[in-house]
Parts: sequence; C-alpha cells; structure tokens
Amino acid sequence: MARLLLENVTKVYDRDVFAARNISFGVDPEEFAVLVGPSGCGKTTTLRLIAGLEELSSGRIYIDGQAVNEMTPKDRDVAMVFQNYALYPHMSVYDNMAFGLQMRHHPKKEIAQRVLDTAQTLGIADLLSRKPRQLSGGQRQRVALGRSIVRDPKLFLFDEPLSNLDAKMRVQMRAELARLHKKIHATIIYVTHDQVEAMTLGQKIIVLRDGEIQQIADPMTLYKKPVNKFVAGFIGSPPMNFMTGVINEERGQLQFGSADIRLTLNEQFGKYLGQSVVIGIRPTDFSTVDGSGISIIVDVIEPMGNELYVYGRCGGVMLVARVPENAAPIVGRPFALKIDPGKIYLFDEETETAI
Ligand SMILES: Nc1ncnc2c1ncn2[C@@H]1O[C@H](COP(=O)(O)OP(=O)(O)O)[C@@H](O)[C@H]1O
Ligand SMILES: [Mg+2]
Repeated sequence: MARLLLENVTKVYDRDVFAARNISFGVDPEEFAVLVGPSGCGKTTTLRLIAGLEELSSGRIYIDGQAVNEMTPKDRDVAMVFQNYALYPHMSVYDNMAFGLQMRHHPKKEIAQRVLDTAQTLGIADLLSRKPRQLSGGQRQRVALGRSIVRDPKLFLFDEPLSNLDAKMRVQMRAELARLHKKIHATIIYVTHDQVEAMTLGQKIIVLRDGEIQQIADPMTLYKKPVNKFVAGFIGSPPMNFMTGVINEERGQLQFGSADIRLTLNEQFGKYLGQSVVIGIRPTDFSTVDGSGISIIVDVIEPMGNELYVYGRCGGVMLVARVPENAAPIVGRPFALKIDPGKIYLFDEETETAI
C-alpha cells in the first residue's frame, strides 16, 4: 500500500476563494488518516486534488515518492468513495462490483474471484444477484465500498461515505470500516465533518479550517493538547466551554466570575499577568465535590441515564457540565461546579493559540 505526501498544496477557485491553502501532510502506508473540519473548510477539494479530479493552483502531491501533479486520475490508481455513491440501478450487485475490473479487461475468472472475496469480507456474498433497489442503505454503502476494494487501488479516498446512513447504521459501519482497514491493510484518507467519526477512525487526524491546517495529531493528543481554541472547541462532545478570565497580577491566580483559581503559573504566563485570557473547560472536567469553582443558574437538565448534562449560565456565558445523576440540579436554581486547575485550558484572547 502506498505512501502519500502533500507539499504546500493550494487551490484557488475563481475570485480568490482559497479552498486549500498551503496544505502539507503525509500519510504512511496502511495508515488511516482523517481530514476533519466544518462544512466548506476544503475537505472535498483536498480529496479531489489527490484524486486528480481538480488541478492544483500550486504545490505538489506525491504518491510513493512520485510526483503525480501531471498524472490523470486513472494513472494515479486511487479509489474514491463519495457520500452520494451512485450504484448502477439496472445492474446486479455482482456487476456493480465487477464493472471497474471489466472495463480494465481483467480475466473473467480473476474478476469473479475478487468480487467473491470482497463480498465475503463485507458480508454481502448472499446479495450478489440483487439489484440496488432491493438493498438497505447500509447494504448499498457496502456495495459502494466493495466496488472500490475489488480494484485493489493504491489509496482509498473516502468523502463522508457514511453521512447518508441513519445514526445507528453509521455507528455500525464505522466499526466495520475500522475492522476492514485492518483486514485489507489499506492506506485510507477519510473525510468527515463529524469529530466523533474522526476520533474513532483516525490514526492521524488533520484538522482543517477555512482551507488551512490547524493541527495534525493522533486522537488523544488532539483532545488533550489542542493547539488553539478552534481545535479545542471542535474536538469533544458536548464541546468545550469558553469564558474570559483575568490572571491576577499580585496573587498570580486566575479569576473569572466568582471563581478564584490557583494555577501553577510558570514563566509562559509572564506576559499574561494582569491580562484577560480565554479559559476552556470541558463539560466532563467539572466536579461537584471539592475545590473552588463557579455557580451557574440552571436552564436545562438532560438525563442521560447514568449521568446528567446540565446547561446553565454564569454571568452572561452559557455553560454545559456533565455531572453524576445524583447531583440533583434544579432548573432556575444556582448549581455549584468545582474546577480542578489541572483541567483548565488557556488561550490567548487575540490569537486564540493555546497558552
Ligand atoms: N468548483 C468550485 N468553484 C468555486 N468554489 C468552490 C468550488 N468547489 C468548492 N468551492 C469552495 O471551496 C471551499 C471548500 O469547499 P469544499 O472543499 O467542498 O469544502 P468541504 O468539503 O470541506 O465542505 C468552499 O468555500 C466552497 O464554496
Ligand atoms: Mg465536502
């Protein structure tokens, strides 16, 4: 399986729309890489550039060390699976899967073997004679995957392939994709706007915003050490809470609302003394038992079974906290949330980079 490298890849559509700006990243053989970011951030564009369906404005793309900028999509030997995978409605599942190989004039016997093997891997071997309309959404999605797998391409490019499925099927197919990746040893570049999909599937996650890379890291590093406020707010569900505080110059403490939190202030805080900063706290990082903290006025309580999500206001800021089911918040009443200083994220108010 192939190695992929993008070097300063830029795509400008007409009138200065930078769909991709100086994108550089590598994907190792057999790696599962995920491009994630909100709608319109340049994910599809980046995939289409890799596939050769779009011409670069500048930069270079290498597959296995070979520059492919001038290569046709066909010669790049990549397979792309889209959200709106169109199966041929008049063809059987078998023919849908075999079609690409037939077009390339592979021997009939070999085609049959490959289609059967792939169908077995995907658990659709008993559906080969059906037409697409006789399949469920999940089964159709598997056929679309199968169609790309039988070709045995160097790279798989997946563009939000699960977003047409219902929530339950999406979770199931997600697990199947992870298993499939291990089984076929594929190099995969997977695009999604869904951070949960990115976190659960990606070995390497590339976070995009407005055509630019924000951070490249493994899932836990992204979660624990986000480089800026954008990544911190994008990864994690419910999202991180943000509020503004001041690092008190004399006492070296962080203050916001009624909270007065002792931080271990090291030299990197030097230039922030007496300044206001953005404070980030994950909903899962509040405690209801010990330490200093804040008080929120409860707006909404969402019971999740073994825990509650409590939504409320502190000053003018909306916050959400996950608390144990026995914590007993009451709508309209104050509710105390304690804060462990070790769980606080701080960001520069101006640049939004992590402090
Ligand atoms: N063919 C095109 N012509 C002009 N602008 C485009 C074209 N395709 C995409 N764009 C713009 O480029 C940006 C990135 O789009 P896209 O790659 O589709 O984002 P994503 O897949 O992350 O939602 C958007 O602002 C989009 O409007
Ligand atoms: Mg897209």
